[in-house]
Amino acid sequence: MVNNPFSLSNRTILVAGASSGIGRATAIECAKLGARLVITGRDKNNLNDTYDSLEGGPHEQFIVDFQNLSELNELVKSLPLLDGCVYGAGFTKLLLTQFINMDDIDQIFQVNTVAPMLLTQRLVKEKKLNNPASIVFISSVAGVYNVSPGNAMYSASKGALNAFMKNAALDLAPKGIRCNSVNPGMVDTKFLKDGTVSETQLIEHKKRYPLQRFGQPEEVAYGVIYLLSNASAWVTGTALLMDGGLTLR
Ligand SMILES: NC(=O)c1ccc[n+]([C@@H]2O[C@H](COP(=O)([O-])OP(=O)(O)OC[C@H]3O[C@@H](n4cnc5c(N)ncnc54)[C@H](OP(=O)(O)O)[C@@H]3O)[C@@H](O)[C@H]2O)c1
Repeated sequence: MVNNPFSLSNRTILVAGASSGIGRATAIECAKLGARLVITGRDKNNLNDTYDSLEGGPHEQFIVDFQNLSELNELVKSLPLLDGCVYGAGFTKLLLTQFINMDDIDQIFQVNTVAPMLLTQRLVKEKKLNNPASIVFISSVAGVYNVSPGNAMYSASKGALNAFMKNAALDLAPKGIRCNSVNPGMVDTKFLKDGTVSETQLIEHKKRYPLQRFGQPEEVAYGVIYLLSNASAWVTGTALLMDGGLTLR
């Protein structure tokens, strides 16, 4: 049999935020490589669509709103022993710094930063992670490699997530738990289509990419798979930049 270091055969992987976009593509691609998936989302129909697209199995799905800590706690209690965890839930709201406010800061940080921190803590405390295991956070170029107008709250939430990732990588290495992040530039998901950025702005922004296009969710999923698999067994505390060359300029 050919040894494939990217294989996820016999691995159980949680993908949080798998009802659309990058999380959905990650779950689908992980299943193709042999993983059993536990997927979460808020939108029942969309999550079910992901579930129905998963090869192999058995897989499980849970409706979880990461604004609500008791739902996060219930999820952790229901989980099987995991070999991998991908935290992909997240959202942005564009507001110039002079207009940011506590409610938006609270909501963005809760989903993008606090929930993945507490999920990591609870997975370890409840002994839900195998040795070895790999945690991958879907972060962003924003706040880590670049900044853009109106993106202060989101950038701060993702910058903090990367800082947490590095500290957790150090703390959890003795337990055989690796922590890394992927940091995408613009990826073609509903994230881009929520109306906060106009079509004209997107066309202009695309010109800044040396590879002349935005990313596809599957392309980010392949980076996540690298970090989940044995191929990256010696990699921890790394922020993997995936941006079509955006930050070269
Ligand atoms: N697309 C990009 O250009 C881009 C670039 C860099 C980084 N990212 C990051 O990539 C990750 C995935 O984004 P995406 O582009 O795939 O966007 P997306 O298609 O909008 O997916 C976002 C996912 O997060 C979930 N989610 C949002 N709020 C949640 C909450 N309160 N509780 C639980 N789940 C919640 C959504 O679930 P429901 O739909 O079921 O509510 C969905 O599964 C995010 O962390 C985002 O910051 C995206």
